[in-house]
Amino acid sequence: MIIYRARIFDTPTNPFTGGELRADADVALVVDDGLIADRTDFATARSAHPDAEVVDLREGVLIPGLVDTHVHYPQVRAIGYLGKPLLEWLDRCALPEESKLGDEAYARALATEFLRGLTAAGTTSAMVFGSHFATAMDALFTEAAEVGLRITSGLVTSDRNLPEALLTTVERSVAESQDLIDRWHGLGRLRFAVTPRFSYSASQELLAAGGQLVVDNPGIWVTSHLNENRDEIAGVAALFPEALDYLDTYDRAGLLGRRTILAHNVHPSDRELTRMAETGAAAAHCPTSNSTLASGFFPLRRHIEHGVRVALGSDVGAGTGFCLLKEGVQSYFMQQLDPSGGVALTSAHLLHLATAAGAAALGLDAEVGDLSVGKRFDAVHIRPTAGEPLEVGNRHATSDEDALAKIFAMGTPGDIARVWVDGEPIKG
Ligand code: GUN
Ligand code: ZN
Repeated sequence: MIIYRARIFDTPTNPFTGGELRADADVALVVDDGLIADRTDFATARSAHPDAEVVDLREGVLIPGLVDTHVHYPQVRAIGYLGKPLLEWLDRCALPEESKLGDEAYARALATEFLRGLTAAGTTSAMVFGSHFATAMDALFTEAAEVGLRITSGLVTSDRNLPEALLTTVERSVAESQDLIDRWHGLGRLRFAVTPRFSYSASQELLAAGGQLVVDNPGIWVTSHLNENRDEIAGVAALFPEALDYLDTYDRAGLLGRRTILAHNVHPSDRELTRMAETGAAAAHCPTSNSTLASGFFPLRRHIEHGVRVALGSDVGAGTGFCLLKEGVQSYFMQQLDPSGGVALTSAHLLHLATAAGAAALGLDAEVGDLSVGKRFDAVHIRPTAGEPLEVGNRHATSDEDALAKIFAMGTPGDIARVWVDGEPIKG
C-alpha cells in the first residue's frame, strides 16, 4: 500500500459534453497493488493507513498516464524527415526504413528505442502500428512485456503497391497473424490488432482475411489508416471501384466496430462519419503528422457532431515525436487556424484527448484514463526543473486551467520525472 500525495489534474467527466477539468491542489491517492483504493485528503489517508509508505509528489503535477492511439514502431528512426506529402514520404523515408526490420537484431534495437520513446514521453497505453515482419512483432511484444506498457499491436499486412520486401500473401498473413494472436493476445497487458497498412496497399481478399481473423478471435483489435491525403484517397477509389468510399473498403471486409481505430480521417464524407459513429470505430487524430505531411486540417467539429469518438495519436515517424503534450498543443493550433472552422480547445479538452478519450478508444476506460477510485494507477509526474520557463509559469499561473495550458504549451519529456503503469514505476 502506497499513499501518493500530489496536485492532480484529470478529466473523469468529458469537457466536450459539459464536463470539466478536475483539479485538486493537494490530494492523497491510496494505491493498493496497483489499484486506486481511495482518493481523499492526506490526513484522512494517513490516519487510515498509518504504516503505508508516503510518496510526496506535491512539487509539480500528477496526471493520468498518456494514451497514444496511433504510433509506428518501425519508424522511430524516421522521425523528422520534412518536406514531402504522404505517398512520397512513404517511398523515400518510411518504407526503406521499415524494410530493414526483416533483420531480427535490427528489429530488437528498434523495439528498445521505440519503447524508450514511449515511456520517456509518459505514454502508458498505446495502439502501436506494427511491422510487416512477424519476427519483428515478436521482438516488440517480448520487450513490451518486459517494460510493462499496455500495448495493442499487430502484424502489418499489404499485398500490393509497396516494395517487394514488405508484401505478403493472404495465406501467409493469416498464418503469421494467427500464430502471433495465439502467443501474445491477452498476455499481461498485451493485445493483438489486425493491421492492414491501408487499403491503398491491400487487395479486397487481404482485407477480408483480416475480417475473418476478427470473427475467429473475438476480442482482438483492428487498426489502419483512413482518408489522410487526397492522392491516397483517389488511389483507393481507383483500386476499389465497387466501394462506396474509403471507409467502405474496411466495412465490406468486416473490419469496423468498437475495437477499431482508424488514423487521420482528415478528409471524410458525411456518410463515412455517420457510418463510423454507427459502428463505433474511433478516429486517431494526429496533428503534428497532419502538419508535417501537409495532409490538411482534421475536421474535429464534424467528428464530434456525428458522434465519432476521437483521441490523440503521435503518428511517429510522420509525427515529430512521442510527446502527446506536443500533439495536444498542435491540435489547438490547427483547430484555431482551420479556415473551415475548428473547435476552440481548452487545456481540459487537450488533457481529455490525451488520456480519457484514448483509454475509451482502446476499451481501457474501465481501468485507466483518469485517477478515480477503482482505476489502476497509470500516472505521469510532471516536475519541471526549478527556474525553467514551465516551472516559473506554473508557479505564476492564474488558474488550474492556465497551469495545464502551460504544461501543454511548454512541456517536454524532459519535464516528466516519473511514470507508473498499474502502480509499477517505468520511468524515474
Ligand atoms: N498510410 C500508410 N502508411 C502510413 C504511414 O506509415 N504513416 C502515415 N502517416 N500514413 C500512412
Ligand atoms: Zn500512421
